[in-house]
Amino acid sequence: MTTAYLNGEFLPIEEARISVLDRGFLFGDGVYEVIPAYGGRLFRLGPHLDRLQRSLDAIRIRNPLDREQWQQVLERLLEENRAEAGPDNDQSVYLQVTRGVAPRRDHPFPTAVEPTVYATSSPIAPPDPAIAEKGISAITLDDIRWQYCHIKAITLLPNVLLRQQAVDAGVGEAILVRDGKAMEGSASNLFVVKDGVILTPPVSNQLLPGITRDLVLELARQHGMPAREQDIPEPLLKDADEVWVTSSTREIVPVTELDGKAVGDGKPGPVWQKMIGHYRDYKEAVRRGEAS
Ligand code: PDD
Repeated sequence: MTTAYLNGEFLPIEEARISVLDRGFLFGDGVYEVIPAYGGRLFRLGPHLDRLQRSLDAIRIRNPLDREQWQQVLERLLEENRAEAGPDNDQSVYLQVTRGVAPRRDHPFPTAVEPTVYATSSPIAPPDPAIAEKGISAITLDDIRWQYCHIKAITLLPNVLLRQQAVDAGVGEAILVRDGKAMEGSASNLFVVKDGVILTPPVSNQLLPGITRDLVLELARQHGMPAREQDIPEPLLKDADEVWVTSSTREIVPVTELDGKAVGDGKPGPVWQKMIGHYRDYKEAVRRGEAS
């Protein structure tokens, strides 16, 4: 049975309970992180905890745990749930912090309330070989979200609706366009390749500063692959040689069909091939404890 952590206790997930007065339940008043772990080793824990702190600061919730405590909780979960993971022991940690349980439902922040802390982990399936062979299809949709997309808020209704529109259209991701510019996916960041240069929109309040995104930029620099942060107007997206979406759970996924038209020659491109190689090497270094 899966183990969860709730407010200081480790317990079977079926027994983890929160109050209906929790602000997360009533208002979506909280933030979260998703952190992969390969071979039991947390991937980019530092940057994930930095982003968690920024999200908490942005919505004015005190961080209930220090970095060492977070690491201890997450590592214990990985151990407790080891038996459910495959032979490689690849797991994904989910954690969320809400403003806590208020005496009654009222919009303003309650006073003297302890944040609710919940975390668990679940197995990550190995990357699907069909994706490397064929890539995925995507559609563009109007970005209907709010102006604080840089906060990793649990309030995900627009993302859920957009992602479902993608599912209903039979595709793997929705790429969101705001004021004529492509921002990111419904649950991923966006890269395009044009004339050999890797491009991704600059961080702003209109997209999530993805940890995978930052690692891709870092690997590009390290391996001398030309890369730049710049706006991606819709015509550039439509005319790109390659399109990728990135996230902690999906890694780097080539988009080979966009709005029913082939991207480039309709197959995962050469720049993606190179980048995914570097990414997988990095992942293996984390697994061996030689990177983090
Ligand atoms: N989502 N943009 C959005 C809107 C996201 O929800 C995510 C990830 C990303 C990629 O960020 P990262 O590389 O740090 O995972 C970008 C997670 C995986 C989720 O909601 O499950």
